[in-house]
Amino acid sequence: MSLFDVYPLFNVTPVKAEGVYVYDNNDNKYLDLYGGHAVISIGHSHPTYIKNINQQVSKLGFYSNAIKNPLQVELAKQLGNKSNCKNYQLFLCNSGAEANENALKLASFHTNKKKVISFKNSFHGRTSAAVATTDNTKIVAPINSQQEVIFHDFEDLKGVEKTLKNNDVCAVIIETIQGIGGLNEVTTKFYKGLQKLCNQYDTLLIADEIQSGFGRTGDFFAFQKHGVLPDIISMAKGMGNGFPIGGILIHPNIQAKYGMLGTTFGGNHLACSASLAVLSVIENENLLSNVKEVSNYFIKEAKSLPHLTSIKGRGLMLGLEFNFPVSEMRKTLIYKHFIFTGSSKNPNLLRILPPLTIQKKHIDVFIKTLKEELKTFSS
Ligand SMILES: Cc1ncc(COP(=O)(O)O)c(C=O)c1O
Repeated sequence: MSLFDVYPLFNVTPVKAEGVYVYDNNDNKYLDLYGGHAVISIGHSHPTYIKNINQQVSKLGFYSNAIKNPLQVELAKQLGNKSNCKNYQLFLCNSGAEANENALKLASFHTNKKKVISFKNSFHGRTSAAVATTDNTKIVAPINSQQEVIFHDFEDLKGVEKTLKNNDVCAVIIETIQGIGGLNEVTTKFYKGLQKLCNQYDTLLIADEIQSGFGRTGDFFAFQKHGVLPDIISMAKGMGNGFPIGGILIHPNIQAKYGMLGTTFGGNHLACSASLAVLSVIENENLLSNVKEVSNYFIKEAKSLPHLTSIKGRGLMLGLEFNFPVSEMRKTLIYKHFIFTGSSKNPNLLRILPPLTIQKKHIDVFIKTLKEELKTFSS
């Protein structure tokens, strides 16, 4: 049987990984500035992560959501404390798309409305409602077009209000910092304005923190910089450091009913133990401060790069925009220098999404390598 060929692959076969490094089957050592697409938060093969998962799997790997699972309760408690969202409620699932799917469904149940406002250039996942709120017609199948989604520009508060005035919008969904869209972020004024309008028109504000959450920006959630309180916060990626887990945080004003949401695998024992390991390492190793410190250093050092037109994003969710398309340079970084970086919809943008444990010395290696290569690549 062959694999269904949907991914253009790099010719690299990782076989092990540790910290910020990934090793392939030819014993090449790669510096991981991509984190398996912003997933690796506490570093590859972290001892606490290995220990937690090993201990759990040797006791109980899985049982259904029909029984009591104290690990879910512990995760809710720890997450509430560490994210400063203590009074929110937690629903666990398995991926980012599923988190947004549940967030949108919940908003529709709660408000009894069905349209959604999303933003141009957004990415929210590939399942039914999530993909319909994604601004990429290539990945929206005809079956998904049943969802009624209105796309607005970032900062277009007037347009948003005009749509909300029809009183048929259940949710406004926004990536606090756009990931694949190229690291655009709204202003605090706009975010606060959105929240006010959502309150006014009985619409829920969903912050998609799937990529920007769990400490990636140096705040636990990226929206926290803007002083807003979303009704639902969706999470995944860094939450499990590679173990599949997603979830939504739900404002206390939204009431649960039996059967409203549900999943077989979501919140299973192994997933919870992985996420608890992530939370404890974020705290014990002061990763939020590390993110801020290394990010400031990165930005300072990157400013001197030739052909650079802008540095986008925050924390360790960064983008280097050049005056030429970066795809060839990205390949060179991988195949010649053994450095993984990310791409985005913007062809000139190199995305940097390393484990949150990365150190300044790793940044030095990257900047030095990039400087050398940039002598070759020019507009
Ligand atoms: C902002 C954002 N939302 C949703 C998703 C979908 O997550 P998943 O691929 O886990 O379904 C992603 C994945 O890249 C994302 O970056």
